[in-house]
Amino acid sequence: MELQSAIDLERTTNERVVLRCRPEGLLDENDVEHQVGVPLPELADGQALVEVEWLGVDATVRTWLSKAEGYLPAVAIGEPVRASGIGRVVATRAEGLPLGHRVYGLPGWQRYGVVEEGPLATDLGPEVDAPALLAVLGATGLTAYVGIVDVGRVEEGDTVVVSAAAGATGSIAAQIAKLRGARVVGICGGPEKVRWLLEDLGLDAAIDRRSEDVHARLGELCPEGVDVYFDNVGGPILDAVLDHLALRARVVLCGAISVYNESHRPPGPSNYFQLINKRARMEGFLSLDHWDRFGEVAEVLGRWLAEGKLTYRLDVHEGLGSAVGALNALFTGANTGKIVIRL
Ligand SMILES: NC(=O)c1ccc[n+]([C@@H]2O[C@H](COP(=O)([O-])OP(=O)(O)OC[C@H]3O[C@@H](n4cnc5c(N)ncnc54)[C@H](OP(=O)(O)O)[C@@H]3O)[C@@H](O)[C@H]2O)c1
Repeated sequence: MELQSAIDLERTTNERVVLRCRPEGLLDENDVEHQVGVPLPELADGQALVEVEWLGVDATVRTWLSKAEGYLPAVAIGEPVRASGIGRVVATRAEGLPLGHRVYGLPGWQRYGVVEEGPLATDLGPEVDAPALLAVLGATGLTAYVGIVDVGRVEEGDTVVVSAAAGATGSIAAQIAKLRGARVVGICGGPEKVRWLLEDLGLDAAIDRRSEDVHARLGELCPEGVDVYFDNVGGPILDAVLDHLALRARVVLCGAISVYNESHRPPGPSNYFQLINKRARMEGFLSLDHWDRFGEVAEVLGRWLAEGKLTYRLDVHEGLGSAVGALNALFTGANTGKIVIRL
């Protein structure tokens, strides 16, 4: 398709944050370079240039910065940090991504990003509630929904445990489990998060992993065992929950944030054999594989939001200069709910 543009592509320049070297541990400001005055890229057929308005801050971004093979190629040195976001199309060579429309895709940590027509660039039309989309209706909600409904097969009366329950994915997963009639126990870090889970999200119980013995508390709170564990963190918390599985439990491996900053492979769960004793199942999944259900799941979650059955919390950071700190907040547990960056 012939190029259409709403901005002066010659004179407009880009601002971006590129990877300078592979991080060890938390991402350091020196691992990236903040560049300004960068010429805009040329568009190939099927591509559009978006002016990024909002970025989502997702734990998986940290995995893309390491060299180890993941489900997407590692971000190359010198490339903008890959990240989800929503932007307005300002130039296009893609029939399906018209000028002025908002597009949800992976524009990266930059003011102007290229998105490509295909499953990873969703045309949202001219108007959209971008924060709600990033916090609930997009990948975060899809992950929570698929994990609870399809992989965990949560049913009425199940006892469900969710780790990082006050985080973006966990808070939605825990609420979906409640909406399916489960008894839900959240694990989180800190008394204010415990309060949020109990009073605002209506969970049945919450464990403060920073001040309580998670293993002992699971025993007290789940005397009949855990039917479904939605795991966002891996590590010692996964080990603790494996000791409390009910017969035919489902362990849903959504993420393992406790290991993303490690440069060495951590030891596996020492008590995985509990899966045998309890005839239990442990299964990983990626929301990426379920992107064709974006519309269907967004409709269900949107209805629950409108009916007041689902709630979310935003933690808004400002500008590209806040990106490193925003990503690290997921690992220090400073966030409650979804972190987004407004550009
Ligand atoms: N499978 C998929 O398709 C998919 C898609 C999206 C996200 N995910 C995964 O979902 C998980 C949550 O991601 P998110 O972006 O929504 O982040 P988030 O839950 O909003 O933030 C991460 C939370 O993890 C907890 N945490 C951090 N380090 C920890 C540690 N060492 N041990 C225990 N808890 C720790 C902290 O909560 P507390 O301090 O309150 O415990 C922190 O707030 C990640 O593992 C991510 O990779 C998977």
